[in-house]
Amino acid sequence: MSANRQKTFAAAAALAYVEDGMTLGLGSGSTAEIFVRLLGERIKDGLRIQAVATSNQTAELAQEVGVPLIDVDHVNHISVTVDGADEVDGHFQLIKGGGGCLLREKIIAHASDLMIVVIDESKLVSRLGRFALPVEVDRFGFSITAKQIYDVLRACGIAKPDVQLRRKGDGLEPFVTDGGHYILDCACGAIPDAAMVDYRLKALPGVVEHGLFIGLARVVIVGEDTEARVLE
Ligand code: 5RP
Repeated sequence: MSANRQKTFAAAAALAYVEDGMTLGLGSGSTAEIFVRLLGERIKDGLRIQAVATSNQTAELAQEVGVPLIDVDHVNHISVTVDGADEVDGHFQLIKGGGGCLLREKIIAHASDLMIVVIDESKLVSRLGRFALPVEVDRFGFSITAKQIYDVLRACGIAKPDVQLRRKGDGLEPFVTDGGHYILDCACGAIPDAAMVDYRLKALPGVVEHGLFIGLARVVIVGEDTEARVLE
């Protein structure tokens, strides 16, 4: 079965958490996009919500499908955020940022009463680290920050980290986030202690944010071939 079908089951199941009058956080990536499209259909049927988007791409899609957006700085309260993930472990710890939107995704998830993660089965792992950890860094001195990140990862028990500047599709220009930063993709292999990596990366001045989401997700919806499985 296709991952897309599984993502659709997961995104559709997340609609059950949406109620009239809510302010929603809209995640980024292909699974979150499916959710936004389904939400647009529900709005055409009379659902009344408003939303904030975690990326310019999601904002454009929301406008296209008729999901009303409000300025993030005019939001008092976010009830539910629905977002995808690149990896999810058994403790609901996540790696996010494959699409480069991790900073805004984390700001919105952190401000939400409930973060729901929607994934296909392939994203479930016993230990985080198969997916390279994205770290959003200031452009100034990014090579210095890259070296410091390497040292932190080594100190956290990762034997051979590989820290690479993310580039655009053409392979020439660096990828730049919506916030104007670079992304360093850090291939780690299994991460022994994600909480320690979280803490130590945040202490580096050049690190704007990183893709480890710890203690944020409370519901994970896994799309399978014929249905969605809700983990709470
Ligand atoms: C973007 C993200 C995405 O949620 C993550 O990459 C998963 O994307 P997809 O649903 O396309 O697999 O973190 O920054």
